[in-house]
Parts: sequence; C-alpha cells; structure tokens
Amino acid sequence: MDIYRSKHLRYVPIEDVEHEDFFLTLMNEPGILNFDISIPVGFTKAKVGVVTKALASHKLLTMFICLPVPGGHGKPVPIGIVALNKPEERHVQHANSSLSIIIISTYQRRGYGKEAIAWALDWAFDFARLHRVEIASYGWNLGAKRLYSRIGFREEGVKRESVWFMGSWHDVHELAMLEHEWRGKWRKEANAETWAPEGDENYSSEQIAQNMGSA
Ligand SMILES: CC(C)(COP(=O)(O)OP(=O)(O)OC[C@H]1O[C@@H](n2cnc3c(N)ncnc32)[C@H](O)[C@@H]1OP(=O)(O)O)[C@@H](O)C(=O)NCCC(=O)NCCS
Repeated sequence: MDIYRSKHLRYVPIEDVEHEDFFLTLMNEPGILNFDISIPVGFTKAKVGVVTKALASHKLLTMFICLPVPGGHGKPVPIGIVALNKPEERHVQHANSSLSIIIISTYQRRGYGKEAIAWALDWAFDFARLHRVEIASYGWNLGAKRLYSRIGFREEGVKRESVWFMGSWHDVHELAMLEHEWRGKWRKEANAETWAPEGDENYSSEQIAQNMGSA
C-alpha cells in the first residue's frame, strides 16, 4: 500500500531538488498572490533552497503534488503544493492544523486540487491524528472558497478587512473540517481513492497486514 498516492496523483516531499525549477516557476506565477500575501518582491532562484527548507521544517507536511508518468517510468511531473501547518508544541493537544494548496495554472480545474485536499485530509486524520483542519480564502478568491465548501469545509467566520491587497482591504473567509465530518460524509463523496477505508470505517490489524504485505 503506497500512502503517497491518490487516484491520479503522487506526493513527493518538498525538499526534493528534482523539482526546484518547478518551484521557481510556481512562485513567479501571477496566481501565487491568491496563496501568498506577503509583500510581493518577486522570487529568485537563490531563494528556492532556503524557502523549501524552511517550509519543510515549519510545516507538518509539505508535498509537491505530482502526476505520475504513464507506464510508471521516469520522474513524476510536479503540478502544485499541498501543506499542513505544524501545531505549536504547547498546543499539540488541540490537534488543529491548517491546510494550504496551490496548483499551477495550466493544471487547474481538472479536479486535482480537490483530490490533493482529500489526500491531505486523510493523511491529517489517519496518520497525524489531527481533529480539525482549517482552510482560508481571501475575499477575492471566490473559486477557491466554492471548492472548499463543495469538499465539505464548513464556513465558520469572516475576518473582516484583515488583508491589504491591490489598494484595498479584503475579508478572509475561514472554514474548517472536523475529523468526524470527513469520515462520516465527505471522504466518500470526494472519492479520492487514497489508502483510507470507505466512510467512517477503520481498518483492523488484519486488514492492515494484508495491505502492508505483513500478513
Ligand atoms: C484553488 C485551487 C487550489 C483549486 O485547484 P483546482 O485543481 O483548480 O481545483 P479543482 O479542479 O479540483 O476544482 C475546480 C473548482 O475550483 C474552483 N476553481 C479552481 N480554479 C479556479 C479559477 N481559476 N477560477 C475560479 N474558480 C476556480 C472552482 O470552484 C472550480 O469548480 P468549477 O470549475 O465547477 O467552478 C487552484 O485554483 C489554485 O491553485 N489557485 C491559485 C492559488 C490559490 O488560490 N490557492 C488557494 C489559496 S486559499
């Protein structure tokens, strides 16, 4: 059983130097401003190693989302990044995290964002034992918010005028998914085909033994 895959996608840790050129391209796409709202100063090749290392150490999970090469030969093709924040040490008992995602523009609107989010939720609840995963979208990012709601994230609030972007103040919409909501309803609807069992079932030790080849 390979946990670093879902129906159409593969997931590779962000430190993988094979994908440094992709990272540089992604960070210079106009759409990065829907994702990263630090003051835009451009992104250089020199920053690639520093930023990927920082992401790897500050996040619980940071993966390149990749398409497998047909036939399984050759390197997977990176198309985006999915990440989960690391809870602070003195807050681990709350089992909260937040998810961020970006898909490079040429691969958007093909269902990959939804599939990668579903994979990250399965990972969060089944491996990291998180209880709650938050996701946020900026007021102008209507498409992302529509997608998150469709996946089952519930809107919890609006941080009014909390970001400054392109000359005006904008709201931030905050949504979250709870572990039991994901298992009880939304995981099945996402149909992402990760390692996870269907619905709210859990694997028995015997089933895991079969899946892991340790029976
Ligand atoms: C948001 C994002 C991750 C979605 O990934 P995706 O692979 O395109 O999404 P999917 O194909 O799984 O789902 C498609 C849905 O996402 C939304 N969506 C995705 N891209 C969109 C776009 N450019 N404009 C409007 N809606 C968009 C729509 O709701 C769409 O459904 P629809 O086509 O039926 O309207 C991706 O568009 C992206 O990386 N955008 C730039 C960065 C970003 O906004 N990140 C999220 C920060 S909160």
